[in-house]
Amino acid sequence: MISVRLKTVQLVLSSLTSLSLLAASGSVCSAGDVEAGRAKALMCQACHGLDGLSKTPDAPNIAGQTEPYLVAQLQAYKSGARKNDAMSVVAPSLSDKDIEDLAAYFSAIEINVVKMPGR
Ligand code: HEC
Repeated sequence: MISVRLKTVQLVLSSLTSLSLLAASGSVCSAGDVEAGRAKALMCQACHGLDGLSKTPDAPNIAGQTEPYLVAQLQAYKSGARKNDAMSVVAPSLSDKDIEDLAAYFSAIEINVVKMPGR
């Protein structure tokens, strides 16, 4: 449990480092900008993947998720209404604009269901 938490803290810290690098680059962007969202998604990729497909056992896939749902969840982590060891550290550093851009990017990833089980 302790090593899992340590791993989470390391992932969060490396993610926040990417965030400061991004802030230092001074990129300017408009609301719900997919390109800007892709750049900001570098701070999510260790867990959710740049492709939005989970890279850790406890992180969910978020590729192709609906935009309003993504915005709502990120706002909930930011406000504290929804809590999680990783997301409660990541989300407070996100501005409303960051959240819109990230939601625009991850929701725009195209996913295809190739096979459904059971038939
Ligand atoms: C250190 C790993 C980690 C990082 C970095 C991370 N996440 Fe997460 N994320 C998680 C985990 C674990 C969950 C599941 C949390 C829970 O159970 O509430 C989650 C949940 C979410 C959810 C809710 C998904 C759902 O199905 O309800 C969204 C949306 C999300 N993350 C977006 C992001 C975005 C955007 C970033 C980058 C700004 C990011 N996350 C960075 C680990 C991470």
